[in-house]
Amino acid sequence: MTPPSDAAPQPFATGSAAAGSAVATSTPGALAPAPVTRATFDEVMVPCFAPAPFVPVRGEGSRVWDQEGRMYIDFAGGVAVTALGHCHPAMVKALNEQAGRIWHVSNWYTNEPALRLARRLTDATFAERVFFCNSGAEANEAALKLARRYAHDHYGPDRVRVISTLNAFHGRTLFTVTAGGQAKYAAGFGPNPTGFTHIRYNDVAGLEAAFAEEGGSDICAVILEPMQGEGGMIPGSKEFLQAARRLCDAHGALLILDEIQSGMGRTGALFSYMQKGVTPDILTAAKGLGGGFPIGAMLTTARIASAFSVGVHGTTYGGNPLACAVAGAVFDVINTNEVLDGVKARHSLFMEGLKAINARRRVFCELRGEGVWIGCELDARWKGKAMDVMTAASACGLLVLVAGPDVVRIAPSLVIGLDEILEGLTRLETALGRALS
Ligand SMILES: Cc1ncc(COP(=O)(O)O)c(C=O)c1O
Repeated sequence: MTPPSDAAPQPFATGSAAAGSAVATSTPGALAPAPVTRATFDEVMVPCFAPAPFVPVRGEGSRVWDQEGRMYIDFAGGVAVTALGHCHPAMVKALNEQAGRIWHVSNWYTNEPALRLARRLTDATFAERVFFCNSGAEANEAALKLARRYAHDHYGPDRVRVISTLNAFHGRTLFTVTAGGQAKYAAGFGPNPTGFTHIRYNDVAGLEAAFAEEGGSDICAVILEPMQGEGGMIPGSKEFLQAARRLCDAHGALLILDEIQSGMGRTGALFSYMQKGVTPDILTAAKGLGGGFPIGAMLTTARIASAFSVGVHGTTYGGNPLACAVAGAVFDVINTNEVLDGVKARHSLFMEGLKAINARRRVFCELRGEGVWIGCELDARWKGKAMDVMTAASACGLLVLVAGPDVVRIAPSLVIGLDEILEGLTRLETALGRALS
């Protein structure tokens, strides 16, 4: 675990990254890389993102420096990805060692880091089989395809319906964006895949009604996040998740839990299902799995996995040795009592600090979440201002996230220093004062 550092970080303290990629370093004899700035983004990148006005160039633990040398406390974690912070020594070591060994072999061969990572994941979870890929969307795409294929093979071609929830987020492929049930992400790309029934999250009666249609005999799967992250940080109730399990069992459907954001220790358990009393048939992981190195995984049982026989599904980079070596190192650090208990302790520290801020400022109507995954819903007076808080926070030297227009989201490293939590909360309070006045 990263020990809390003694030195309180200074807003905009100049770090050794003061001269970032705008004045890039060069190897003797090599051409210096061309200077780039935030403005370059608008000149050369597809405009589907609107990045902040500064460019991060270096990270260490839970601190990030931009091109100007300004330092930011990182409460965003690259959207719940950098589970061990930036450049954790165990990850750097694993990457460097693997980089000197072998980078890529394709799935015509297997490789040691992938096998070791799959062994770790199956030993630690309900799963007996793992499929590796490169992102969360790809893991969910594989999960949905597997559910359809399994149903096809066991029940025939008519069992295709998938129950998913409104305001969910499962990725940006056409299949996963359709599953997500958010029109703003799915509109304009049609025809979208069919066969989805969207119900309200945490609505047990709605779930039962969806199963009652056609007697439930056309349903191949239910896909759920244990807590809706992008959709506003809405924790799934045990009743809802357990009802999904019960109904899937009763109707021969598969329960897919999307643990892409909730997994890998973020809630204080290795995977969130472990503390919800519900075991899925298929689980998807990504984000924190690689701690910043792109990797996704779909976990399932041997029986279900057998529906993906040779050639039925695949991906060039899935199980890439570099990604799996890093993910193996991440796994070994996270899957310890020290780190998982530390997540719970950090949760308490965050909640105490946020409640104290709210007692002084009265800006939040609800503080909710699990582990180091917290949503701060803005009070009625400040609805729609979450993005303003995020922008003000970065001007105060703090990276935070939003989850929709009304919720400020915190998803830092699982091992963020305790002093960094306190300093970040101080910066957040300053930002709230600036944004909400
Ligand atoms: C719950 C959930 N599922 C799937 C995804 C998609 O992951 P990726 O962006 O790696 O494709 C995300 C990303 O935010 C997510 O939060």
